[in-house]
Amino acid sequence: MIELEGLTKRYGEKLAVDHLTFTVRPGVVTGFLGPNGAGKSTTMRMMLGLDRPTEGHVRIDGQRYEDLTDPLKYIGALLDAKAMHGGRSAHNHLLCLAQSNGIPASRVREVLDTVGLTSVARKKAKGFSLGMGQRLGIAGALLGDPRILMFDEPVNGLDPEGIHWIRTLMKSLASQGRTVFVSSHLMSEMALTADHLVVIGQGRLLADTTMADFIARNSRSFVRVRSPQYEQLRDALHQAGITVVEAGGGALEVDGDMAEPIGELAARHHLVLHELSPRQASLEEAFMRLTAESVEYHAHSGPAPDREWRGDLEHGKKVG
Ligand SMILES: Nc1ncnc2c1ncn2[C@@H]1O[C@H](COP(=O)(O)OP(=O)(O)OP(=O)(O)O)[C@@H](O)[C@H]1O
Ligand SMILES: [Mg+2]
Repeated sequence: MIELEGLTKRYGEKLAVDHLTFTVRPGVVTGFLGPNGAGKSTTMRMMLGLDRPTEGHVRIDGQRYEDLTDPLKYIGALLDAKAMHGGRSAHNHLLCLAQSNGIPASRVREVLDTVGLTSVARKKAKGFSLGMGQRLGIAGALLGDPRILMFDEPVNGLDPEGIHWIRTLMKSLASQGRTVFVSSHLMSEMALTADHLVVIGQGRLLADTTMADFIARNSRSFVRVRSPQYEQLRDALHQAGITVVEAGGGALEVDGDMAEPIGELAARHHLVLHELSPRQASLEEAFMRLTAESVEYHAHSGPAPDREWRGDLEHGKKVG
C-alpha cells in the first residue's frame, strides 16, 4: 500500500504537485492519469524518495522510503528506462543491482526469463531497442520480488505484443496481491489494464475512483438504434417523449440507459430493429472531458479536447 498525504512539490513559482492525498491499494492495478506536465512523474519520484516534498508525506506500507532497510524488496519501480549504464550487459546490470541490494544472484536469471531477455542477457544494454530497454527496466523493478510496483509509462515505444505482455504482467502481479501503480497516456490500453484510477491535472487530484465509475461519471452513455422503418421508429420515440438524435448512417441515438424501453416500444408498434446497442463513451473521452480545463500544452490546430468531445453530441440533428 502507498499512502500520500498532502503531498506537494514546488519548483520556484511552479506548483508541480498540489496537496495530493490518496491511497494506492494492493490487489488491483491503479492507473495514474493526467495530461502532460500534470505532475505524475514528480509524484512518483517523491514516492520513491528521489525528490523531496515541499509539504506532505508518502508512506510505503506505513514507512517512509528513507526508513526502508531493503527498498528494492518493498518497492520496485521503472521510472526512466534510459537511466542505466549502457556499457554493461543486461545480465551484469541486473547483477550489480542485486548485489548492492542484498538480492540473491539467482534472481537475475529468473527476471531475465520473465521479461523475455534471456537470449540477449550478455549483450550490452546500449545496443538495445526501446522495447528491450523497457523490458530490462521492468526486470530491474521485479528483481527484489517487491510487494509494490510502480511504472511510469511502461508501454512507451512497445510494439503490440510488448503492450499485451505488459498488460498481462501487471494484471498477474496485482492478482498475486501486490500493489501496482502505473501511469500511461495510452487510454485504450489503460481501460483494459487498470481497475482503479487516480487522475490529476496541474498537480491537483481530479478523480480517485474505479474505472467503471470514472467512465460513468465523466461520459455520456447512450443507445444506438437502427431500423428499416426509420421514420416510423423516430416518430414513435418522439411521440413517447423520448429525445432522439439522428446520428447518420441510418442510426438514431438516445441518451441514457434506454435499451429496454426502446425495444418494448418498437415491439408495441411492430417495428423491426436491426440494432439496439447500449454504448458507453470510451475512457479517452471521459479523460479528455475531465481534464479539458487542466491541459497546459494545447496543440494549435484542431479543436480543444472538450469541443471535440461535444462535437460527438452536436453532430446529429436533434429531433425530439
Ligand atoms: N526538476 C524540475 N525543475 C523544475 N520544474 C520541474 C522539474 N520537474 C518537473 N518540473 C515541472 O513540474 C511539472 C510536472 O512535471 P511532471 O514531469 O511531473 O509531469 P508529468 O505528469 O509526468 O508529465 P508527462 O505526461 O509529460 O510525463 C511540469 O510543469 C514540469 O515542467
Ligand atoms: Mg512524466
